Amino acid sequence: MGENTTVRWLLFFFLPALFVYGLLHVYSSKPAEAKKSADLTAEEEAGRKVYNKFCVGCHGENGDGKTLAAEFFRDKPPNFHTAVFRWKSTPEGCLPTDEDLLHVLNWGIPQTPMPSFKLVPEVQKRAVIAYIKTFARDKWEKGQPDPQKCQSVYKDIKRPDYFGTPESIERGKNLYAMNCAACHGNNGEGDGPVAATLPVPPTDLTYPVRAAGPKPEDTFRVLTVGLEGSPMPKFDYLSEQDRWDLVSYIAYLMNKGK
Ligand code: HEC
Ligand code: HEC
Repeated sequence: MGENTTVRWLLFFFLPALFVYGLLHVYSSKPAEAKKSADLTAEEEAGRKVYNKFCVGCHGENGDGKTLAAEFFRDKPPNFHTAVFRWKSTPEGCLPTDEDLLHVLNWGIPQTPMPSFKLVPEVQKRAVIAYIKTFARDKWEKGQPDPQKCQSVYKDIKRPDYFGTPESIERGKNLYAMNCAACHGNNGEGDGPVAATLPVPPTDLTYPVRAAGPKPEDTFRVLTVGLEGSPMPKFDYLSEQDRWDLVSYIAYLMNKGK
């Protein structure tokens, strides 16, 4: 008798209750989200929090940049899944360095909606950099396609003595007319005859702040590697002096009104 009751109790009450409890447990732990966090390292998880606080509104929860905010922007946020970056110091086809990404976060991209996060502590910026890499984890894990070629060009950049001299500005002016005016306009205001046909408008080079960074070396870097994925070409076929003369000239354009 006693044994029978126990078996019945087990069959009709305890086992079904255990089953329901199990189901509840599975569903209440939201498997999708749990998986997401479990896949992330501690730094990436910290970065996810930073991202959700500061970046998600423009760059989107899944990092593809297709956000409501972006619809109103002239300059669109990148799709982090492609791992193609525009604002970097490595040649075309290469990943940016962490320093490049940190540079973008510190400086922002003036004349576009991308703000500066200079005031956010560096550990948090490093964490969010680790997190945005998770949107294209396979590409980042593979690393640079060609480690030899894919080095930052900053290490070879040395500002020459003639930078900013009247002679350099004059030479740069001629080079500018030949190589740049079609897009950036005769006066550098981004209104050349080709400008309207481009998917991204040419930067107004008379604006007092440079998108690529505050130093002449940053502008030299843009001329050397271009802006991958945008119409701005690289001019590495021009001699180093030509490129520095161009930097002299557009630095002059930037400061002319001041
Ligand atoms: C107000 C909107 C906005 C916010 C907030 C924002 N971004 Fe951006 N971001 C942009 C836009 C727009 C661009 C594209 C600018 C361009 O290349 O013309 C961009 C570009 C970038 C780039 C450079 C991409 C490239 O092609 O080189 C990085 C990296 C980046 N954002 C990371 C972040 C991170 C990380 C955060 C948060 C800490 C953040 N952004 C917050 C709008 C935003
Ligand atoms: C085919 C058109 C085209 C030509 C030619 C061109 N540019 Fe650009 N340039 C652009 C576009 C478009 C951008 C903006 C890209 C973006 O925001 O993603 C740009 C951006 C730049 C930037 C970055 C802006 C900043 O504030 O840091 C610099 C510097 C620049 N161009 C200089 C030059 C110089 C100097 C030349 C000539 C040697 C030149 N460009 C030739 C289209 C062009």
